[in-house]
Amino acid sequence: MSEQSFTDEVGVPDTVAIESKLPLNAIDIESQKDMESGRYHSLRSLHKWFAARPTPAVRLAVLASVYPGEIDSDELLRLMKIGPKELDSGLAEFVENKFTEEKGSGTLDDHYGYPNPNTQSPTKAEIEKLQGTLREAWGGELPTILDPTAGRGIIPFEAIRYGLPAKANELNPVPSLILKAGLEYAPKVGSLDPDIREWRDKIHETAKENIEPYFPTEEPDRQILNSALTYIIQCDSCGGEMPLVSKWWLNKDSDGGDAIKPTYENGSIQYEHVRVENQGGSYDPEDAPLSGRDAECPHCGVVNEKGEIREKIHEGEFEYSIYGVNYEKENGERGYRAGGEIDQEALSKAKERVESDFDILTFLSEPVDVSSRTNDPTSYGMDEWRDIFTPRQLVVQYEFLAAFEKYKPDILSEYDTEKAHALLSILTLAASRSMNYNTRLNQWRDSRGYGSHIFTDNNLSLKRMSVDNNLSAPRRGYKNHSEHVIDAYETLVSYLPENATVDLSNLDAADLSSEWEAGSVDAAVVDPPYYSSIMYAELSDVFYVVQKEYLEDIHPDIYSSNLTDKDNEAVANPYRFEEIADDEQSKKDLADEHYESKMGEIFTEIQELLSPGGVMTVMFTHREMDAWDTLTSALIDAGFTITATHPIKTEMGDRVGLQGKASADSSIFLVARKREGRSDERTLWEDVQDDIRQAARDQAEEILDSGYNISKTDTAIAAYGPTLQKYAEEYPVVNKKGEEIRPREALSQAREAVTGVLAERFLKTDGIEQIDSLSRWYILSWLIYENDTIPYDEARQLGVAANVDIDNIKRSTKIWGKSGKDIQLKDHTGRVQDIVMLKSDSADNPSSRKYPVNPTDTRFTYNIDAVHSAIHVYEREGARAAWQWLSDRNLKSNREFEVTVTALLEVLPAESDMRETLVNLVSGETGDYLDINLSHIDMTKEGQTELSDHQ
Ligand SMILES: C[S@@+](CC[C@H](N)C(=O)[O-])C[C@H]1O[C@@H](n2cnc3c(N)ncnc32)[C@H](O)[C@@H]1O
Repeated sequence: MSEQSFTDEVGVPDTVAIESKLPLNAIDIESQKDMESGRYHSLRSLHKWFAARPTPAVRLAVLASVYPGEIDSDELLRLMKIGPKELDSGLAEFVENKFTEEKGSGTLDDHYGYPNPNTQSPTKAEIEKLQGTLREAWGGELPTILDPTAGRGIIPFEAIRYGLPAKANELNPVPSLILKAGLEYAPKVGSLDPDIREWRDKIHETAKENIEPYFPTEEPDRQILNSALTYIIQCDSCGGEMPLVSKWWLNKDSDGGDAIKPTYENGSIQYEHVRVENQGGSYDPEDAPLSGRDAECPHCGVVNEKGEIREKIHEGEFEYSIYGVNYEKENGERGYRAGGEIDQEALSKAKERVESDFDILTFLSEPVDVSSRTNDPTSYGMDEWRDIFTPRQLVVQYEFLAAFEKYKPDILSEYDTEKAHALLSILTLAASRSMNYNTRLNQWRDSRGYGSHIFTDNNLSLKRMSVDNNLSAPRRGYKNHSEHVIDAYETLVSYLPENATVDLSNLDAADLSSEWEAGSVDAAVVDPPYYSSIMYAELSDVFYVVQKEYLEDIHPDIYSSNLTDKDNEAVANPYRFEEIADDEQSKKDLADEHYESKMGEIFTEIQELLSPGGVMTVMFTHREMDAWDTLTSALIDAGFTITATHPIKTEMGDRVGLQGKASADSSIFLVARKREGRSDERTLWEDVQDDIRQAARDQAEEILDSGYNISKTDTAIAAYGPTLQKYAEEYPVVNKKGEEIRPREALSQAREAVTGVLAERFLKTDGIEQIDSLSRWYILSWLIYENDTIPYDEARQLGVAANVDIDNIKRSTKIWGKSGKDIQLKDHTGRVQDIVMLKSDSADNPSSRKYPVNPTDTRFTYNIDAVHSAIHVYEREGARAAWQWLSDRNLKSNREFEVTVTALLEVLPAESDMRETLVNLVSGETGDYLDINLSHIDMTKEGQTELSDHQ
């Protein structure tokens, strides 16, 4: 620890460690390790919630936001439990070296030589030492940490794990229950073992007895685990039975797998179980009726289109059909069989029960209120939450609730209120977690041979090949899920020091001062909702309605509303503004406005709660500039300035591109303090623009020099940090007319500057700035994204940097096409007319209408058109014709053509067809003619230049 005192006269530190240099690389590596499956924080195993931050990043934010002055890298990492115990110094280098070393066959922990830091808590002595330092710096008291949008609470949990007082707030009831379990009951009530397992067993046994009749099996020693379920609809043309299955695999293994072989006869379908071996065999389980969302009738061959299919499901014109069953024998052996009569009878029995049992008639009948952003289930006729279940799934849900209710009075009478509530809350989490594996929204996964949970894609889409789970079976049923939950709870208990407490609240964070006093918080560590990425409330109703059935009487404060609160949630969801949008304000503008104003209110409340000298550390992740623009505007408007920023890896890549490298997975930590004596002095944009560009350049260069493990895309995002810091320092920034310049403008400048740095670093071809803007944009896009698919917003921003309006040029150049929310860069095959047809003067040359580039032209508007034409001619007519084509156009001495060719050779991925032909073009006789200097290009390259790869 630094010897220097950082405490000023009022008893707060002048600066805190997060405002100084930090061992980011090592923490970043640990954060990536933390995101690997099986290494998560135990709060994540209690129940599904969205957007978890890795523990190392959270620990850093918590500790460094209150630690006075600077902190020695070794001391910080040791405190964070990163690095081997026996190493006294050089911990950061140790971790970085391990990261680059080849990993052996052992576990990640074996490789690094120390346990997962997530599982390690500070010792009593370490906590006391830390508390001593903090008390001295914070006027004798321990600083209090606030997390206003706490989710499942990893931030406040880590705070109390290190002996710091914490306050945690969350709007949504679903994570609020996780908070109650992990942050209120775990420290206050402590271990619930063995009682909780005893009650769990009783609930399980009761539910099992009532559920078993719905899972009959012909073989007495076989218990159904889960069943592959689909929809049978009638073909529009022949009326035959059409299963909505796109592949008949049930399970794949190293030798082949288990599959269903359907027989179609007289308009009906029968299933047969087959083993499909990798070698030989004529049956292909991939040959199935569904292709995309359309289905080809297996009886008459007529294609039934997706709209009609959806309509039928919407109108209930379908039968559920179990086509495969995964079972377990008494000896533990597992296998698969085809679905048959006995399964259909069981489904019918459940349907009868649902239609006749008065109690089930209204069970879970709350309306589904979600927008198309989350794949609205109502478009498939699921208007009430009960509709997301098959009748058998609904009976299973109901029986588990009934069993819970049976034992609730006993639990309440046997224990004191707090312990009883703790038991009931954890048991509810177990039931809710189990439900997450048993709805029509769960996908059957043939790669695993069982079903997924609902939220593999963070949406609520109906699955055509779904899973019907027997929750009373041990494997993947209630017992298994409850074990995870109980284990996670007990682990959390074991992590906490004595006397750990958190102040919890369940409010809109824009209203925090109604709960807590001004000045009662010393550091706010904020992980705000990610703008438009996740619609938390819409996604969470599915859990809410179930949990409410269990706990409405126990936690009336949490379960007071019919559904979760979508109006006060700080997200940008254009679909919720569809009805009030007009010509003046689009739904996106209105959604942005809502997000910015809600975040502004939340930041204002934080200002109010922060003590003098307190800091706010915001962790934020988003690829879209609008997200950063709205968030930082909100922060600055609330009276904060930015004192430091750090890029840090906190997200698993959410997008796997062509080469799996284009995903943005870095966050930025923005460290903010109250702006002292808010000045009205305005800064002229022209005066600050250069500094902003320089700040972005410096950051990009620093990252590249440090070997920080970050993609090129993330380098650009990381440069947003210092850019926004500079912008905030100069705020308010105006143009010459006195109009306000928003952060977006500064971020655009940063993008442009970073693109320049990346081009300088990674493009050895000189003269890129001399070629036309469109060709430059095309090359830079390949350089930075290493992929033909790029998020639209980023491609647009890159266009701004290269001086191209990509929307304007789309139609005339067809250089890109739309692919969902992305753009797809086109190659010559999507742009150049067929030269053979053109030469044959075909009257009806379809290509001339579809493709803008005419290879018979002698001059081209854009360099990329000339290069694409040359590639086309080479591929279509061969080397000799290409030679003639090049020399007719005198391209030998054309500098711009040469720059475009060599730059493309540098940036295109090794396996791209375009690159392969380019290599041919610059070799052989065409190569002799062009005589291009290729000395700076690796013609044998295996792949793209990378900053670094995770080993
Ligand atoms: C990025 S997540 C936090 C995740 C958290 N760090 C964790 O470890 O689980 C953001 C959270 O903000 C919550 N939220 C959204 N609007 C809110 C509001 N107005 N007040 C309080 N919380 C809100 C969401 O429900 C969500 O749980």
